[in-house]
Amino acid sequence: MKPVKVGICGLGTVGGGTFNVLERNAAEIARRAGRGIEVAQIAARHANPRCSTGNTPITADIFEVANNPEIDIVVELIGGYTLARELVLTAIENGKHVVTANKALIAVHGNEIFAKAREKGVIVAFEASVAGGIPVIKAIREGLAGNQINWLAGIINGTGNFILTEMREKGRTFEDVLKEAQELGYAEADPTFDVEGIDAAHKLTILASIAFGVPLQFDKAYTEGISRLTTADVNYAEALGYRIKHLGVARSTDSGIELRVHPTLIPADRLIANVNGVMNAVMVNGDAVGSTLYYGAGAGMEPTASAVVADLVDVARALTTDPNNRVPHLAFQPDSLSAHPILPIGACESAYYLRIQAKDHPGVLAQVATILSERGINIESIMQKEAEVHDGLVPVILVTHRVVEQRIDDAIRALEALTDVVGSVVRIRVEQLN
Ligand code: HSE
Repeated sequence: MKPVKVGICGLGTVGGGTFNVLERNAAEIARRAGRGIEVAQIAARHANPRCSTGNTPITADIFEVANNPEIDIVVELIGGYTLARELVLTAIENGKHVVTANKALIAVHGNEIFAKAREKGVIVAFEASVAGGIPVIKAIREGLAGNQINWLAGIINGTGNFILTEMREKGRTFEDVLKEAQELGYAEADPTFDVEGIDAAHKLTILASIAFGVPLQFDKAYTEGISRLTTADVNYAEALGYRIKHLGVARSTDSGIELRVHPTLIPADRLIANVNGVMNAVMVNGDAVGSTLYYGAGAGMEPTASAVVADLVDVARALTTDPNNRVPHLAFQPDSLSAHPILPIGACESAYYLRIQAKDHPGVLAQVATILSERGINIESIMQKEAEVHDGLVPVILVTHRVVEQRIDDAIRALEALTDVVGSVVRIRVEQLN
């Protein structure tokens, strides 16, 4: 059978890795796909010193690839929203299949792109967009297709996880570790996407859609970053038996779907609490299977290429199949997507870690307990540290049982209004993940 012709747009870290893996494993890939997968053209503005492209034709114009009649599959690895959207829509319009690693593109423009792809009978595959080399999209979309998914929770940004790990293990500052993550090439072009949770929210939006069968709704995801976390909270969490992770959580409830990214205390003995450095992990809980865990490299040259090439093999195998009987882009048949709403953060439910800076006076703890009990908030554990010598303030740290967020917001307002409480109350959500 004739080889499938691929055009790679973007020869950076992932593009270079994809070319190298396709070259190195060509024979093995052909045995799997039933035919060869050949790079017929590359669009790149610069050469990649980690990738030797030999005689493969190279152009600086990505649209030359999208319009090249010889090419069956366009691989979009340029990143960003605007140009990438135009490239993918052009390729689809020309009847080409698309493989992309672009989480921002899928999370923000995926509904439009999939509709266009259905119209033209082509595949858009995006395994590499979430958690790099971990085949978690395939696992949820196909491997767990018999389940009702209850919830999923993931460490899906390697840069953020690296920062938290270094802060906890080595007491390093946030800024210092971020600089190293940028030098290692893991951070996004704009690192606020990593530390403010936007990159994780892109990925979580995609996972939630394939888990619950709802359209992509990135604009409704709640995001809170890790830039305000202090070493003090990392250490208090440790003393209470928890680790702080930057977690994406999607949960299906009767009233709607929770879609939230924020720093989270997780019991230290959970496997996912021990996922360190740049590694990613996603827990998925289904009604039939129970809890499952997917772990691996969430970024990097060849781990991400592993997912891109797997998509290419999938597309090569599906080229001759009936477009209406392929695995749906978002796991559920497009006319069966549900309108179950995404909940605002105030309606989400969690347990909470609170740190209150209080004056060292009798009765302060009683006032705190009263405010919480008046709002039906149950305290699970409480810890009061000795007064700091220089300011005479005592840190009061407590963990609550699960409660709707609005009630905690109300309690925090009341606590901050007490004359014996100084400054803002620190609040970090807690998930048991059991
Ligand atoms: N900046 C991302 C991360 C790269 O750190 O996980 C992979 O999407």
